[in-house]
Amino acid sequence: MVYEEINITIRQAEKIVLDQFKVEGKATRLPGELDFNFKIKTASGDRFILKISRPDEEENYLDFQQQLLQHIADKNPEITAPKVILDIDNNSISSIVDAYGKVRKVRLLTWISGRIWSQVNPQSDALRFSLGQQCGLLSSALQTFHHPLDTRAFDWDVSQAAWTLAYVHVFSTKEQLIVHYFQDLFSQQQHLFKSLRQQVVHNDANDNNVIVSTDLVAPTVVAAIDYGDAIRTAVINDVAICCAYAIMGHEDPLAAALPIIKGYHSEFPLEEKELEVLYTAIAMRLVISVTKSAINKQKEPDNTYLLISEKPAWSILKKWMTIAPDFAVCHFRNTCGFTAHPLETEFEKWASNQQVSVADLFPSLDKRSVFPLDLGMESTLVGQLSEFDNLKKFQFNLDQKQDENPLKVLAGGYLETRPFYTTDAYKQHSNYGTAYRTCHLGTDFWVPDGTAVHSLFDGEVVMSIIQTEAKSYGGLVVLKHENNSLTFYTIFGHLSEKSTTQLAVGTKVNKGDEIGYVGHIKENGGWCPHLHFQLSLDLFNFKDDFPGVAVPSQFDIWKSICPNPNALFKLDDLHAVKETSNEDMIHYRKQHLGKSLSLQYKVPLKMVRGEGAYLIDQQGQKYLDTVNNVAHVGHEHPTVVKAGQQQMGLLNTNSRYLHENINQLAKEIISTMPAELNVVHFVNSGSEANELAIRMAKANTGAIDFIASEVGYHGNANACIEISSYKFDGKGGHGAPEHTHIFPLPDAFRGKYRGDTTSDLYAKEVQLLIDEVHQKTRKVAAVILEPIISCGGQIPLPKGFLKKVYAKIRKAGGLCISDEVQVGCGRLGTDFWGFQMHDVVPDIVTIGKPLGNGHPLAAVVCTQEVADKFANGMEYFNTFGGNPVSCAIGTAVLQTIKNENLQEKALEVGNYLKASLLELAVKFPIIADVRGEGLFLGFELLDNKANPCPEKADYLVNRMKDFKVLMSTDGPDYNVIKIKPPMVFSKENAMEVLKYLSVILAEDFMMNNND
Ligand SMILES: Cc1ncc(COP(=O)(O)O)c(C=O)c1O
Repeated sequence: MVYEEINITIRQAEKIVLDQFKVEGKATRLPGELDFNFKIKTASGDRFILKISRPDEEENYLDFQQQLLQHIADKNPEITAPKVILDIDNNSISSIVDAYGKVRKVRLLTWISGRIWSQVNPQSDALRFSLGQQCGLLSSALQTFHHPLDTRAFDWDVSQAAWTLAYVHVFSTKEQLIVHYFQDLFSQQQHLFKSLRQQVVHNDANDNNVIVSTDLVAPTVVAAIDYGDAIRTAVINDVAICCAYAIMGHEDPLAAALPIIKGYHSEFPLEEKELEVLYTAIAMRLVISVTKSAINKQKEPDNTYLLISEKPAWSILKKWMTIAPDFAVCHFRNTCGFTAHPLETEFEKWASNQQVSVADLFPSLDKRSVFPLDLGMESTLVGQLSEFDNLKKFQFNLDQKQDENPLKVLAGGYLETRPFYTTDAYKQHSNYGTAYRTCHLGTDFWVPDGTAVHSLFDGEVVMSIIQTEAKSYGGLVVLKHENNSLTFYTIFGHLSEKSTTQLAVGTKVNKGDEIGYVGHIKENGGWCPHLHFQLSLDLFNFKDDFPGVAVPSQFDIWKSICPNPNALFKLDDLHAVKETSNEDMIHYRKQHLGKSLSLQYKVPLKMVRGEGAYLIDQQGQKYLDTVNNVAHVGHEHPTVVKAGQQQMGLLNTNSRYLHENINQLAKEIISTMPAELNVVHFVNSGSEANELAIRMAKANTGAIDFIASEVGYHGNANACIEISSYKFDGKGGHGAPEHTHIFPLPDAFRGKYRGDTTSDLYAKEVQLLIDEVHQKTRKVAAVILEPIISCGGQIPLPKGFLKKVYAKIRKAGGLCISDEVQVGCGRLGTDFWGFQMHDVVPDIVTIGKPLGNGHPLAAVVCTQEVADKFANGMEYFNTFGGNPVSCAIGTAVLQTIKNENLQEKALEVGNYLKASLLELAVKFPIIADVRGEGLFLGFELLDNKANPCPEKADYLVNRMKDFKVLMSTDGPDYNVIKIKPPMVFSKENAMEVLKYLSVILAEDFMMNNND
């Protein structure tokens, strides 16, 4: 058939709808595989879909669709589906004769408003769940629908997919391999497919047939449209079709399918045996799709719709092939509330009658009890990376424990989340960035190398190999055991090389037979000697390996596949690890911790470790930290940790005794300052530093009036709050106190004065305040300012402003305080201290956050004159300030900045990140400004009318967290994203941030930029 001859033009469509239905409207063309579809919009805003069939279309088939729609409407009026409009003669199916004399059937249906699935970004788990729900609802309503045409030969019916076998020749050799793989599975499962529930189902929830609500943050599926493919078939085929399209474009298609299945199951419960074929059914729908595309490409090369889903379908088929079918079934079962592994319960029953001892495993040790070893994320025995990577140290710790418990075997680790799986082999791509396999699936027995290991049951060797990669199993032996209908496996990892060469695959072993020896570090994958003992009910497709650790998101599935070895040993001390849930922790906090303590993120995180630029949560997942400028030289920097630990072991006391550490740190700090600033007072927090600076200014000038910036924050102590507009002008505040004078935020981008030449204007505002103080016959004590105003939203001071302000304040007899609590210690890249950027020398500098790298350490540095005037006889005593431990830590921090060139790195990486953000701003105009220096950056979100977008900033930060990047918002309108990571933040880290920013900025909610 020549396409031109069957095509319907827009003008023809408008005439048809007017003639047949008396509906006058404008038509726009819509995609369609067979029908010619048009959207019709009337002047009054009513919308319809006009469907014109190909010539010679059977009326019966159209009647089937019309009746089906009516059935849905009658069965469940709550379901949104298109409604049938009758023509001028009251027919639900109208007909016309086209320009070539052919009869064409015409139908008009109500339009369902919303967005087409394919245009929705992101297609979240929640959205896919609601897709499943909608399709489940439809299937539920269609259970009782019957029509003579519901059973027919149909290429798109998964149950009938065998036709594709005849067309494999249309594919390349590589493609044929893929297609054959699934076709083989399909034919093997024919008996299963035939035994499944059959009914009429929608059968075509592809991404152009699903309508989604217009809510851009939490959209849901409104309806499935286009019922032309409905057919009587296995229900599971309908689920498969929903999945086949909605998992396209996802890194991990299996994970993406689960919410759909869950949603379907919630409305229309699926049966266990249906889930057994779901993996194949999904693949076969895709096989049909790629086969159709290939055939149709040859037939109608101009029809682009036919090709729409070809590419992503191939990509999914390739990924799908890498997933073991039975493993997928475990996921499907778990999602639907069945035991993930079908044999879990049977195994449990069998195991409850077994009794084996640790001595059966290691007869030579003759030990029957165990000492439970905690090697989890929060284990201090494991320590930090530099410690657990040092196997001598790790072994020393183990030996100590063993010495304390000589009669027991050190053991444990089933389902324990552990920090030490650090090689790339433990990284996995997920739909939410990198996922780390951290959850241990077996029990480890920490026994000496050379210890003989014996089989617990009769069995057969099915794997016996040596793995040579770092942090692998080394020697690995897997035994298969069969007991009536139950087959299971015992997995022995970290054996000696000799064990595996001695024991060939196929060897039968009896209970009690020696099967090998615990391996030495050099042959066991590079671990302290131990036996990894794991049970499994399946080996899936694994031939020379089997996971011993899993990603936490698959915890429930693996728990079922790999039962607890203690089901055999039955030892109280070998219990699986139990953790307090985050919900319980939140509940306790709410009850018993300060009520105004806040938690970050809508779903709060529990962090248990830090490592460089990363924070690591309780499940061992790594989050890139762009927020924490406190962990200045990197989270838990080994040098800093060691300095603190070592001094802690010697002495910690106050500064009334002589100690080298306090002098050393003072020297380190002074060496970074201009010569004038050479007296140091040590305190414990930025607040305390500013509190002391305020006292010094008062003591020096005899005045009590302070000048500070709008939206400035200087700490939580009384006097600090009184100079912090961020607090007293914010929620719960009562405005500026009598002696505080606030000048407008010197924001050249969106402040009171805008542009490059605003420094005079803002400086004049400061002068006005000075004059005001003088008019009240009082004097100015000091001005306090950050070199980049952080809580104000990373506001750089206009060029020349600080110099002018300092001159005016000094003229008025006041002091100048530079609050370097946020920006100090090299973060800005060009200069070590922020004031140096402005070519001024303050009278007092306050230093906080970065100095202790997380340890409470802060300092006030001032001139001799200021210090002398402050020392008026009243002793300044500070119990903790300047203690030897804090000073050891501070010194280590400052030396690390130098030794690792962190200031220079901050400049280099910061410049790269800033330039890249500016490029992003061109692509995404919602980024209205990019600012800051070094690794103290910010970007501001404004809509196209220049209004701030705090909800978008909040959305962005929460979505970045989904991809394991931590960011924060600030500024008076909370529309500025701040970037102030640990200074070890690398260019690769910056690239990761940029990668996910560009993903999220392109999402519907972010792109809808006209608030
Ligand atoms: C600029 C500035 N000054 C002072 C402080 C107070 O420091 P701390 O929280 O250590 O008391 C902060 C804290 O965020 C700050 O940002």
